[in-house]
Amino acid sequence: MAAKSSLLFIVAFFLALSTTSTAFNVTKVLGQYPDYGSFNDLLSQTKLAEQISHRQTITILALDNASISSIASRPSDEVKKILMNHVVLDYFDTFKIQKLGKKSAILTTLYQTTGLAQGQQGFLNITKLGPGEVVFGSAVKGAPLVSKLLGSVVSQPFNLSVLHVSTPIVAPGFGEAVLAPPPPPGSPPPAPAPKKAAAPAPSEEEEADDDESAAPDGAPSPAPADAPAADAPTKGKTPPAPKDADEEEEAAAPSASSRVASSIAVAAVMGLVASLVAF
Ligand SMILES: *[C@@H]1O[C@H](CO)[C@@H](O)[C@H](O)[C@H]1NC(C)=O
Ligand SMILES: *[C@@H]1O[C@H](CO)[C@@H](O)[C@H](O)[C@H]1NC(C)=O
Ligand SMILES: *[C@@H]1O[C@H](CO)[C@@H](O)[C@H](O)[C@H]1NC(C)=O
Ligand SMILES: *[C@@H]1O[C@H](CO)[C@@H](O)[C@H](O)[C@H]1NC(C)=O
Repeated sequence: MAAKSSLLFIVAFFLALSTTSTAFNVTKVLGQYPDYGSFNDLLSQTKLAEQISHRQTITILALDNASISSIASRPSDEVKKILMNHVVLDYFDTFKIQKLGKKSAILTTLYQTTGLAQGQQGFLNITKLGPGEVVFGSAVKGAPLVSKLLGSVVSQPFNLSVLHVSTPIVAPGFGEAVLAPPPPPGSPPPAPAPKKAAAPAPSEEEEADDDESAAPDGAPSPAPADAPAADAPTKGKTPPAPKDADEEEEAAAPSASSRVASSIAVAAVMGLVASLVAF
């Protein structure tokens, strides 16, 4: 009996741990590209790196040191919201973007998973203006398509794509917009930008949430039953700090990946302790 239950315990513990294992380490991947050093630092400081690494299918719209400087000194809460809009819950590399049948599409971002998004704040609009000319912006109505696709940094089909974009995308309501550089003197901007201020979106916000083209989440699997264990601290540097509301775990899908060995080791120790207690 005791042996059997400790075996079950080992299995349960192993399963619980494996749901928190990561598909890739975004900090390490971006660490190979010094141009994105500030962006990478901010992903770590806002703890978004952890959330990103638990995802299996992600596109990151990365900002280089020069372009991120326009938002880097904003309050950390605001920076976090902005960066969450730079994490798309789907895989898009430049090839897939070229192949996009439509001229424009709506993309779901990590911000949508917080449950805090108002209207279309959790979504981006990607629009192909012409051959090789692709722009991104907040999907909130009237928001300008400020951020140009400049190239690809990393592509690991179909899990991780990092694209280099020109300008931080600040959704209306997140803070002061950053305009696409350089402001063309005299000529009108390409996208309609009636108001630069972060005006609250108009009243059709609610129904905008029902946009069919917008998948609710990249990983549609429901939370595993052993939810409490899903919060187990990932091994690594930071002690488990109290989480913000918007950091709640939304069910990283179980992945059969790397950290098997260490998981087994921990599970074995725990199992041993459990059986000792049982005897
Ligand atoms: C890549 O994503 C697929 C699902 O999209 C997943 O099955 C696979 O385990 C992922 N690969 C890695 C290395 O995480
Ligand atoms: C990811 O990589 C960074 C830098 O190499 C390291 O400091 C961090 O501990 C890694 N995170 C995980 C969860 O392994
Ligand atoms: C970008 O900024 C980071 C620190 O924020 C720095 O470590 C890195 O060297 C910078 N990269 C370049 C290319 O200047
Ligand atoms: C994306 O934005 C452009 C310009 O505002 C707009 O014309 C287009 O309809 C939008 N695309 C979608 C799919 O909403």
